Amino acid sequence: MSVPALSVRNAEKRFGAIHALRDVSMDAWRGEVTALLGDNGAGKSTLVKCISGVHRLDEGEILLDGRPAHLNSPAAARGAGIETVYQDLALFDNLTPAQNFYCGREIGFPAWLPRPLRFLDKRAMNREAAAVIDRLQVRLPKFDAPVAMMSGGQRQAIAVARATVFARNVVMLDEPTAALGLRESRKVLDLIVKLKAEGNAVILITHNMEHVVELADRAVVLRQGTKVGELKPSAQNRQDLVAMIVGAEA
Ligand SMILES: Nc1ncnc2c1ncn2[C@@H]1O[C@H](COP(=O)(O)OP(=O)(O)OP(=O)(O)O)[C@@H](O)[C@H]1O
Ligand SMILES: [Mg+2]
Repeated sequence: MSVPALSVRNAEKRFGAIHALRDVSMDAWRGEVTALLGDNGAGKSTLVKCISGVHRLDEGEILLDGRPAHLNSPAAARGAGIETVYQDLALFDNLTPAQNFYCGREIGFPAWLPRPLRFLDKRAMNREAAAVIDRLQVRLPKFDAPVAMMSGGQRQAIAVARATVFARNVVMLDEPTAALGLRESRKVLDLIVKLKAEGNAVILITHNMEHVVELADRAVVLRQGTKVGELKPSAQNRQDLVAMIVGAEA
């Protein structure tokens, strides 16, 4: 374990007058959960979106396994094995869960035809997507209904399930339990443990300190776009972590 799966080096990102990321560097290691913490507006989602190819860094670089990565689009990031559950979920409202699962990587047949010419194997896609969502034990009203008809929690479960299916390398979860009930939250936490055990580098954004103490091997704290600290979370230093987040340390 000598090289981090993901490294961010001296990241800078501005949105007009807003300096969303200032010289941020962080690492995420395989088989570990790295919590990315900070108050509202600290820059967490911006950092996630720069890694997942939604935004481009103004300066700085991203390394995968120590090599510079050019993540110029969400497809490029996915191709590099980076799966993301976005805070705003990024599901297509007019598509069903299965269509959302396989959007951009549809299962087609016959295998000998080039991908764009294959017939869509809707049954296989429905079956696989349903199996994964079933494992999460989230009940959907109708599996073949558009996602627009589903609750926030149901949508969140679909997004997390999708990431766990395709995760190969780095998985980023931006407040994955924010809309979930207790039982569904527990399922998502179980999935995070599984993703970690499978050797993924997991980056978890959450405002829930109990989840951080329970799951995170390390925590990186952002405040107003700047990294203000990094520590190994435990029940003992939970208050230090909170102080770091709100900027109230002595
Ligand atoms: N697309 C955008 N255009 C302009 N400003 C943006 C954009 N995205 C984020 N910002 C700004 O960048 C700053 C960081 O936002 P970001 O969403 O990264 O915060 P966050 O840490 O994820 O907060 P939260 O906990 O509320 O989700 C904020 O001031 C926000 O208003
Ligand atoms: Mg956010």
